Amino acid sequence: MPDLSKITNIEDLRAIAERRVPRMFYDYADSGAWTEGTYRSNEEDFQKIKLRQRVAVNMEGRSTRTTMIGEEVAMPVAIAPTGLTGMQHADGEILGARAAKAFGVPFTLSTMSICSLEDIAEGTDRHPFWFQLYVMRDREFIEALIERAKAANVSALQLTLDLQILGQRHKDIKNGLTAPPKPTLKNLMNLATKPRWCMGMLGTKRRTFGNIAGHAKGVKDLSSLSSWTAEQFDPTLSWADVEWIKKLWGGKLILKGIMDVEDARLAASSGADALIVSNHGGRQLDGAPSSIAALPAIAEAVGTEIEVWMDGGIRSGQDVLKARALGARGVLIGRSFLYGLGAFGEAGVTRALQIIHKELDITMAFCGRTHVDEVDSSILLPGTF
Ligand SMILES: Cc1cc2nc3c(=O)[nH]c(=O)nc-3n(C[C@H](O)[C@H](O)[C@H](O)COP(=O)(O)O)c2cc1C
Repeated sequence: MPDLSKITNIEDLRAIAERRVPRMFYDYADSGAWTEGTYRSNEEDFQKIKLRQRVAVNMEGRSTRTTMIGEEVAMPVAIAPTGLTGMQHADGEILGARAAKAFGVPFTLSTMSICSLEDIAEGTDRHPFWFQLYVMRDREFIEALIERAKAANVSALQLTLDLQILGQRHKDIKNGLTAPPKPTLKNLMNLATKPRWCMGMLGTKRRTFGNIAGHAKGVKDLSSLSSWTAEQFDPTLSWADVEWIKKLWGGKLILKGIMDVEDARLAASSGADALIVSNHGGRQLDGAPSSIAALPAIAEAVGTEIEVWMDGGIRSGQDVLKARALGARGVLIGRSFLYGLGAFGEAGVTRALQIIHKELDITMAFCGRTHVDEVDSSILLPGTF
């Protein structure tokens, strides 16, 4: 176990991940669509919101424990679904799920993960986890995937609604992103500088899309797998499909990628259990507002009918507290998780969660609150949000 006591913030983890993870996968994580304006504003808009410092308030006996869709959590933070996580670090999804289980927060596996649903179930002794679903044209494949999720002890399904087509991510296009990387001269030269990563990859057999390889019809090799995947996202996805998925799944349902009050109303009336205010970490519609800017109006409109969560730009416990104050019952972390994983594997994810928890707890105390459920917009300085 490395000594991570001097790793004090998410930026420390990011800088180490940048050195250790091959360029194309680091860039895949640390980038947004087009001008990356929305990606940047997700973080920057948090900085503009100021907190009210309170004094001489009893700070003893603090707790960040609460629930998300009825599940007990050590803090209102879940790990977001991220594709290709097993390329940030060998067996990345299994390590992330184990760290989340030990910390007491939910882990979400992406459809586009490297480790499969079955790998996570086996790697965590069948501890419940969440699964994120992309709706594909091949509906038989979706039906089979949902059955596999049930068999793997998935306790909630996250249906992503904002990726029927892929946003323009310039870095990925320029890097020729694939999993595993193609053995081009440029890639081999870069991999030669990442010995730890290479050793990890040599020690695992999980190197491509685990939920899809061996399950989708007509996919024989890696090149047919990548073209199958690119062609499969269904551009006709509609609210009728949400209803279809809800029936098929029959359990807790979370709708991800809501940025507009009208869509939030539709999400609430769909009978889903939670919605996530999310612009996919600035990776889809560049020019959309930051998630934290979109949150208050959505929470105001539907917050009493459906649990409202958010993601995008959470890099500290302060950000979690601000999101809570503006109406999010919970948040998800994408890059904060990936940087921890890329830097130090499971120990790095644990460190990322510890960092966020510590800052959440301390900031809550300075704002004069002892329980995360007591936090509302009165902790924020008027005029700054
Ligand atoms: C590298 C990467 C891959 C992602 N892959 C997926 C995915 O497969 N499915 C999905 O619903 N969202 C995906 N997302 C979006 C995240 O779930 C989440 O919305 C976003 O990362 C939140 O922003 P943050 O990274 O600033 O925390 C991905 C994000 C990143 C950074």
